[in-house]
Amino acid sequence: MQVAVIGANGGIGRRLLPLLDEAGHEVIGVVRSEEQFEQIQERGGLPRLGDLEGTFAPALEGAEAVVFTAGSGGGTGWDKTLMVDLWGARRAVDACEEQGIDRFVMVSARGAANPDAGYEPLRPYLVAKRCADDYLERSALAATILRPTTLTDEEGTGRVTTAFTPQDGGPDIPRADVAATVRACLDNDATIGRTIELYGGDTPVEEAVRPSN
Ligand SMILES: NC(=O)c1ccc[n+]([C@@H]2O[C@H](COP(=O)([O-])OP(=O)(O)OC[C@H]3O[C@@H](n4cnc5c(N)ncnc54)[C@H](OP(=O)(O)O)[C@@H]3O)[C@@H](O)[C@H]2O)c1
Repeated sequence: MQVAVIGANGGIGRRLLPLLDEAGHEVIGVVRSEEQFEQIQERGGLPRLGDLEGTFAPALEGAEAVVFTAGSGGGTGWDKTLMVDLWGARRAVDACEEQGIDRFVMVSARGAANPDAGYEPLRPYLVAKRCADDYLERSALAATILRPTTLTDEEGTGRVTTAFTPQDGGPDIPRADVAATVRACLDNDATIGRTIELYGGDTPVEEAVRPSN
C-alpha cells in the first residue's frame, strides 16, 4: 500500500518510515523543507514537499493511506496549535476525501477525550486535537485514531498498553512504540472506526491493537 506520512521528519515520523518500508509499503514522506529530503530517502521514503499551513494536498497524490503525525510542538503559540494541530489536520482529512484516499491514521493525544479534565496549560491543545478527531470521525474515511500519552525518546520495546475506552492514565510511551502501533493499525482493518488510547506496557503491539469485541 502507498502510505503518505504527514510529519515524516518528526519524532514519531522518523521512526515510522523504516517500519512501513520494511513491512512492504511504499512510503511518501511529507516534509516542509527540501533540506529534509535526504533523511527521508535514507529511511526508505519518497520525499515530497507539503506544508499544512500552505500547499500540501499535491504531496498526497497516489497515496492509498495517510498517517497524520505532524504537530506544532510545545515551543510555538496557540496560533500554530490552531493552524497546524486543528486546521492542518482537518485540511488533511479534506484532501483525502477530495483525492479518494480512504484510509487515515491520526496520531492524536491522550486527554483529547475530555480536555476539561486535562492539565490546564495543555487544554487548548487537547481541544484542538479533539476537534480534529471529531472531524475525522464524522468523515467518510476509514479512520483509526491513536491517543498516546506523554512521549519519550527511550528505545522502543515493541510492547504497549491500549485502551479502547478512555482511562485515567498510564505509563509514558516511547515514540518508537507509537510508530510500531501506527504500523500495526494500518495492517489491521479491525482498528478502523476505533479510537485507541496508548500507554507504555507489556502487550505486543499486534495483539494490543486487536479489539476484543
Ligand atoms: N509530545 C508529546 O508528549 C505528545 C503526546 C501525545 C501526542 N502527541 C502528538 O504526537 C504527534 C507527533 O509527535 P512528535 O513528538 O513526533 O512531534 P515532533 O517531533 O514535534 O514532529 C512534528 C512534525 O510535524 C511537522 N510540522 C509542523 N508544522 C508543520 C506544517 N505546517 N506542515 C507540515 N508539517 C509540519 C514538523 O516539521 P519540521 O520537522 O519541519 O519541524 C515535525 O516534523 C503530534 O501530533 C503530537 O501532537 C505528542
